[in-house]
Amino acid sequence: MGKDVIIACDFSSKEQTFEFLDKFSGRKPFVKIGMELFYAEGPEIVKEIKKRGHKIFLDLKLHDIPNTVKKSMNVLSRLDVDMTNLHAAGTISMMEAAIEGLTRPDGTRPLLIAVTQLTSTDQERMENDLLIKEPIDKVVMHYAGNAKKAGLDGVVCSPLEAEKVHSICGKEFLTVTPGVRFADGDVGDQKRVMTPAEAKKIGSDYIVVGRPITAAEDPVAAYERCIAEFVD
Ligand code: C5P
Repeated sequence: MGKDVIIACDFSSKEQTFEFLDKFSGRKPFVKIGMELFYAEGPEIVKEIKKRGHKIFLDLKLHDIPNTVKKSMNVLSRLDVDMTNLHAAGTISMMEAAIEGLTRPDGTRPLLIAVTQLTSTDQERMENDLLIKEPIDKVVMHYAGNAKKAGLDGVVCSPLEAEKVHSICGKEFLTVTPGVRFADGDVGDQKRVMTPAEAKKIGSDYIVVGRPITAAEDPVAAYERCIAEFVD
């Protein structure tokens, strides 16, 4: 799969989501559906967006015992999404079980991506709350290595980590990077950001862009700008 821009559809209802997607006449962007929209509208929203011709990254970040994750991934594989994810903290066995569950009878499956440490977790919280004493970048790279060992396709990471992930896990191992902002745009609550052009330069495979597109005066133009900077 080539480089692409994934729009984070962080809306709370299907009405808002379709009002947004209807602006893209003719264009069918790759979209990310997160927990908020999925829990509000259920699997039907995934089916409807798929029917409209979009690729879908279903961002539900599964983390449970291997058997439960395997069965849940099996259900998700039937929704025909293109990409989904889980927490690498669930261990290699859990990730292997996830792949098994996600693989359809014909051998195909959606891309499976791991979350390493959430960007909301810093060194202090990791040490004090989780009792993990190693440096956070070492933990992130170790979890990425575990995901690769388990047979996953890549990780969600900050654009600043993408280069290192590729150097450790190989060029083919996908890096899906949020925290993207235009050079002249609002940073908002994101701390460590990159422009789409910089993300391209350091080798991100997919950028996940929310508010710079969803809150733009002209979302289609903002999306096209991301494509022009990151893909073309
Ligand atoms: O609006 P914005 O571009 O900041 O949205 C980024 C999207 O990526 C949101 O859906 C956010 O939850 C997600 N994300 C993130 N940082 C992570 C993982 C996911 O911003 N580490």
